[in-house]
Amino acid sequence: MTDEKRIERLSAMLKRRGIILPAFEIYGGVSGLIDYGPVGASIKRKVIQNWIEHWTINGDIVEIDSPTITPEPVLIASGHVGEFNDLMTQCEKCSSAFRADQLAENYHPNPDILGAEEIDHILDSNEIECPNCGEKKWTPARPMNLMFGTKIGAMKASRQAYMRPETAQGMFMLYPSLYRHFRQKLPFGAIQTGKGYRNEISPRQGMIRLREFNMAELEYFIDPENPPITDISMKKEKISLIPDPKENEHEVVSISFSDAISQGILKDQTVAYFLSRTWDFLISVGIKPSKIRFRQHEGTEMAHYAQDCWDCEILGEHGWIECVGIANRTCHDLQSHEKYSNSNSLRAWREFVEPKIESKEVLAPKTSILGPIFRAKAGLVLEALSELSELPNQLPFDLLIKDGTKVEITAEMVERKTVRKNIAGEWFTPHVIEPAFGIDRIIWHILDHAYEETEKEGEKYNLLRLTESVAPADLIVLPLFEKDGMGDSARELNLQINSMKGVTSLIDSSKSIGRRYARADEIGIPWALTVDHTTLEEGTVTVRRRDDQKQVRCDIKELLNHINSGNVSSLF
Ligand code: ATP
Ligand code: GLY
Repeated sequence: MTDEKRIERLSAMLKRRGIILPAFEIYGGVSGLIDYGPVGASIKRKVIQNWIEHWTINGDIVEIDSPTITPEPVLIASGHVGEFNDLMTQCEKCSSAFRADQLAENYHPNPDILGAEEIDHILDSNEIECPNCGEKKWTPARPMNLMFGTKIGAMKASRQAYMRPETAQGMFMLYPSLYRHFRQKLPFGAIQTGKGYRNEISPRQGMIRLREFNMAELEYFIDPENPPITDISMKKEKISLIPDPKENEHEVVSISFSDAISQGILKDQTVAYFLSRTWDFLISVGIKPSKIRFRQHEGTEMAHYAQDCWDCEILGEHGWIECVGIANRTCHDLQSHEKYSNSNSLRAWREFVEPKIESKEVLAPKTSILGPIFRAKAGLVLEALSELSELPNQLPFDLLIKDGTKVEITAEMVERKTVRKNIAGEWFTPHVIEPAFGIDRIIWHILDHAYEETEKEGEKYNLLRLTESVAPADLIVLPLFEKDGMGDSARELNLQINSMKGVTSLIDSSKSIGRRYARADEIGIPWALTVDHTTLEEGTVTVRRRDDQKQVRCDIKELLNHINSGNVSSLF
């Protein structure tokens, strides 16, 4: 059987078992929109929960939640209105629209980095055919903004807005609150999980390129002059890196995180730390280590906000797919939002190790002379004098005060002086390191890596070897029959298990026990508990392990203790 067929069988199984399904199917479906069914929604929730716990465990990162509808000025400042584009081209015959770089995929190692003219040239000189009708003539490639527009309010009073293309802007908007929460001390981070929306030109590859998708992003705010101390010297396992693809022509280096830092392949310690934490997370949810690699972006491939960026790519049925982007966004967003919103609240205070002494020329007021002359305005005059950024070359001069009028300051009213001031620190704009995860792409690869096809007693038999932490349920209870009280006993056991905190159990009593085991294995439930006649007589059940179908008989009370302590495997 070819790999091509495996993907079809896997997709069919995901649909049949209520894991991933096309959305709005009875109306013909919409490409780029999917449903998570009753089993898939549990897997998704578990993956997200694992992700949240992974990042919040140290206490320096908190979770936030912000709106998906975003007013236009926010996305003008972030650069998305101007620059969040893909190059699009249309077939001159059938008018089908495609992402131009995708059409050029087999003719350039990384067409994502090319400009419109270069892509036009590739399409033309290679006579690339329209996947829809076979025509070889294309309109010139032009940028199309990927955001879904919407309106806040109605008619003339409405304001332009967009469905958020990333969750990150929510964290930037909440920066002042985060700064207060963390007692004005960097570094700290905020995570957010939720929907992102992109009007992808030609969505394909199932759940890899969606128009509405689940994002999980972390913005970690740091002082670039005092970056956090992140020791990953103990990370000795070998990982695959593709550093600086231009220079190395996509050469894969197999190296440990610790050596990659000491050899200067990973130059930024904080970025390296987040690469390694990303690796840990992916392994913990069941991604196979040999199918993960990190690829550094070429300069022209980088998002408009990034200074350094690494994609974490995972190998599966669709080839190597970017599932996480880890970018150094520098101070791009916070600085830009300050400028566009006219605020100065997106900064942090940096204390100097030694206070700096600053000498400054000032015009010190002689209040006994100024007071009687300016009377009620004297306060405004004193304020304007203290705020003078440049001293006048000669006196008298005209001083602009806050009520908009000018007053004449003469030599008798002030004295030129040099004052010395202790400066304890300074305000600066924090830099941001951002790991951005695509949850749907990760779930696809978890399923892909866990899916196993074998034969059992001459019949096809599928197994989803999901890691326990992302399995749709921890256990399933199966009464051998409904009769003689076995059904009731199974329901009681199921209820007892479900009332334990953090444990979920399903119950299934339809069709033969063999069919039910097979169904449970196919959706990846690690443990099945069978209630039979002996259960009624002796208070024991059969515990069956998904991964090797081994069974042991166990006293219910003992079993419940094991379940409660998350330790069913020790029964074997
Ligand atoms: P691509 O180059 O594949 O379009 P991207 O570089 O635009 O992806 P990012 O903007 O870095 O992706 O988004 C962060 C993460 O969100 C990606 O690593 C990916 O996992 C996920 N993602 C991005 N676009 C989509 C999409 N259309 N459908 C599903 N997931 C997506
Ligand atoms: N926040 C990362 C991205 O959307 O690209």
